[in-house]
Amino acid sequence: MTETLVIKDLHVSVEGKPILNGVNLTINRGETHALMGPNGSGKSTLGNAIMGHPSYEVTGGTIEINGEDVLDMDASERARAGIFMAFQRPMAIPGVKLADFLRHAATNVRNPDRKEGEDLIPMREFRKELKEKMGQLKMDTEFARRYVNDGFSGGEMKRAEILQLAMLRPKFAILDETDSGLDVDAVKLASQSIAAIAQETEGGTEMGILIITHHDKLLEQNTPDFTHVMLGGRLVETGGEELARELYTNGYDRIRADHPVEARVEAEMQDEEPAAV
Ligand SMILES: Nc1ncnc2c1ncn2[C@@H]1O[C@H](COP(=O)(O)OP(=O)(O)O)[C@@H](O)[C@H]1O
Ligand SMILES: [Mg+2]
Repeated sequence: MTETLVIKDLHVSVEGKPILNGVNLTINRGETHALMGPNGSGKSTLGNAIMGHPSYEVTGGTIEINGEDVLDMDASERARAGIFMAFQRPMAIPGVKLADFLRHAATNVRNPDRKEGEDLIPMREFRKELKEKMGQLKMDTEFARRYVNDGFSGGEMKRAEILQLAMLRPKFAILDETDSGLDVDAVKLASQSIAAIAQETEGGTEMGILIITHHDKLLEQNTPDFTHVMLGGRLVETGGEELARELYTNGYDRIRADHPVEARVEAEMQDEEPAAV
């Protein structure tokens, strides 16, 4: 049976302000979905809500993984269920080395029933795997000794997110602007790596991927089966690869013209935006 992540009529508020106004999205394992849309339309909010970020309050609708209620799970249970998100702006964890972080995360995700304090993946086995993955991503192994995202450049943060993806091999991955801050060569490598990781994911089946991006490069090796457009907190259009191409070439004017109601919601959301600091 195909494994699925199913989102129905999802409403999400942040600090009491409605951001998502009824999102419907089904991702089957093995499918690649592109999520595009203007800044501030709610793309990251959707990802954060799926992951269970406490600042994002689900006020309506459902999220299910293989028929199980995701909204009932805390963030770590969601990770154990096989959901992963590479963050647009990853958090720094000073004092925690990337390698230690990955060893704990990988252990927990691979042994969903593990209790706190029980054995981690044996060090030798973990080191070998980490070294291999870092090699594939052309990362210096020294990098794993640094504190998680602490003083990382934009590009280093994104590479660390891809390393996490490679080590955790989730069933469903949300990649939130994983191409931002990477130079041309690094995006190319990221695109290839993501495609390779998707093939060798847990259980031998491919990942279901939701790629949030404004550009073409990540999608080059990860051709979207579906492209969705977010505007004013709703998915206003779904198409194929050609829709992604239209958007990264021409932008969103056509989308706004075709969806005036959501365009108005977008304009109102922008008006309420606090002044940039
Ligand atoms: N943690 C947050 N605190 C306050 N406002 C937020 C937060 N996250 C998102 N928002 C607001 O929600 C709206 C959608 O943001 P976001 O989901 O980040 O859009 P996108 O990823 O499409 O650029 C914006 O108006 C943004 O200011
Ligand atoms: Mg975003």
